[in-house]
Amino acid sequence: MMRTFSLILPAAGVGKRSGLNRPKQYAEIAGEPMLRWTIKAFAQLGECREIVVAIDPEWQAVAEDSVGGISNVRFVEGGRERQDSIRNGLNELEEKVDVILVHDAARPAVSTQLIRRVVERAAESGAAIPAMPIAETVKRVRDNRIVETLPRANLVTAQTPQGFHPDILRRAYAHALETGFVGTDDASLVEALGERVEIVAGEPTNIKVTWPEDVERVEQILGRG
Ligand code: C5P
Repeated sequence: MMRTFSLILPAAGVGKRSGLNRPKQYAEIAGEPMLRWTIKAFAQLGECREIVVAIDPEWQAVAEDSVGGISNVRFVEGGRERQDSIRNGLNELEEKVDVILVHDAARPAVSTQLIRRVVERAAESGAAIPAMPIAETVKRVRDNRIVETLPRANLVTAQTPQGFHPDILRRAYAHALETGFVGTDDASLVEALGERVEIVAGEPTNIKVTWPEDVERVEQILGRG
């Protein structure tokens, strides 16, 4: 049985680091805006019930252009931080589903297998995210000096989509608002609740476009189709 999901896409950032002349989510990648690639990856799945995209209203016309012809997509105004944008999206969701997914607009090369892996595990366990092992050694630094070297074996990097039972995600966002907690991903809000978050295998191709050279790499990945 396919588990149903709704998707929140934070796409309201300005993406200053990408070196592009527009927010990176609207940059053209292999002939289409990045946002369109990202949305299509989810919208093409039968178990996708609705998609809410948080945007900067200044870019509304470009955003609407990017999703032309894709059904069940709505827009909501983004907030100051990524977390505020997602909160606005959460308030906008209407459908009753098994899992709510949150996915960065800047990860257009996410695969169907990865989406389904997260949805399945989140439906079973309450919360699941894709993670990648770390190839390099990670150090905590202060003033250009190493303070600590972290044991790599226990470290992973967190990707999206991150999936949650709707009630867990809503409780996590309510709790974050009460306590003033700001996280850089959604799992950290659920962790702050004391709830368990499970890991599934991420994908090396599911990169978050951040730097200028990422655009070329993701173009190669999507171009291969
Ligand atoms: O800046 P960063 O790459 O971490 O942003 C991750 C995602 O969150 C991007 O898709 C960006 O558009 C989105 N975002 C947002 N609202 C903000 C800041 C970032 O929707 N205020």
